[in-house]
Amino acid sequence: MSGKNIVITGAGSGIGAETARRLAPGNRLVLHYHSAKEGALALREELAPVCAGVEVVEGNLTTDTGCEALSEEIGRRMDALDVLVNNAGGMIERQSVGDLTWDHLAATFALNTFSAMRLTSLCTGLLRRGGNDPCVVNVTSIAMRHGAPTATAYGASKAAMDSFTRGAAAELAPGIRVNAVAPGIIDTRFHERVTSADKMRQFVESTPLKRAGGVADVARTIEYLVGATFVTGETVDCNGGLTMR
Ligand SMILES: NC(=O)c1ccc[n+]([C@@H]2O[C@H](COP(=O)([O-])OP(=O)(O)OC[C@H]3O[C@@H](n4cnc5c(N)ncnc54)[C@H](OP(=O)(O)O)[C@@H]3O)[C@@H](O)[C@H]2O)c1
Repeated sequence: MSGKNIVITGAGSGIGAETARRLAPGNRLVLHYHSAKEGALALREELAPVCAGVEVVEGNLTTDTGCEALSEEIGRRMDALDVLVNNAGGMIERQSVGDLTWDHLAATFALNTFSAMRLTSLCTGLLRRGGNDPCVVNVTSIAMRHGAPTATAYGASKAAMDSFTRGAAAELAPGIRVNAVAPGIIDTRFHERVTSADKMRQFVESTPLKRAGGVADVARTIEYLVGATFVTGETVDCNGGLTMR
């Protein structure tokens, strides 16, 4: 795969950064970051020798203006887009069902759902001009399958992205493919605030492959979906067998 114009959100750390590493060779990248400026700039340095161009763009994607500003920056740098990876997201905090606040729900959906839906919408024109099997890959979560007790807002916000993936895939076909990867427990800073060491051990113990995933496991799945020219509207579970069907 080479000669593609690729945008990855949340590329300054974790899954997004590793996805950039995998997709970089021979392609042009726009790497979005929000707070991880140092990580994004270091990644630009690292990838410049192997890709056909790499730029970093800052943006808060939890607001409409933030999404619009990023799409405008993308449009200034690329006249067509082949791959959009909607990776930015996260669990703001754990809240039990009885404690759910409006602010928490709004913030969680803004971060995980509205951001990716709005950015996809804003990028459809550029994707239609892609011509090189353009596609979107959404990063959802195993939470959208098991409902995420103590993080139900997060699970629901990712489940909404699962539905959006199928709806958008049907609506944007045949021109643009839309798929999702649903990671299980992946060893990133994501868990630092929201998962205790004990909980992590329990997750690993209940995982058939008996380990947490690494960022490379998810990045490989995203790379597969980018190259899977006859696959659209699918969610690929990447969770060591936790939700095998
Ligand atoms: N790790 C897991 O076990 C796991 C499991 C299932 C799904 N996921 C999903 O995988 C994706 C990547 O997570 P990760 O594990 O790699 O953790 P991470 O390193 O914390 O990545 C989260 C990314 O979201 C970006 N982000 C956060 N707030 C933002 C905002 N307001 N505007 C724009 N971008 C924002 C961050 O950008 P900055 O760092 O630049 O602020 C960061 O790059 C997320 O969507 C997450 O929900 C992770």
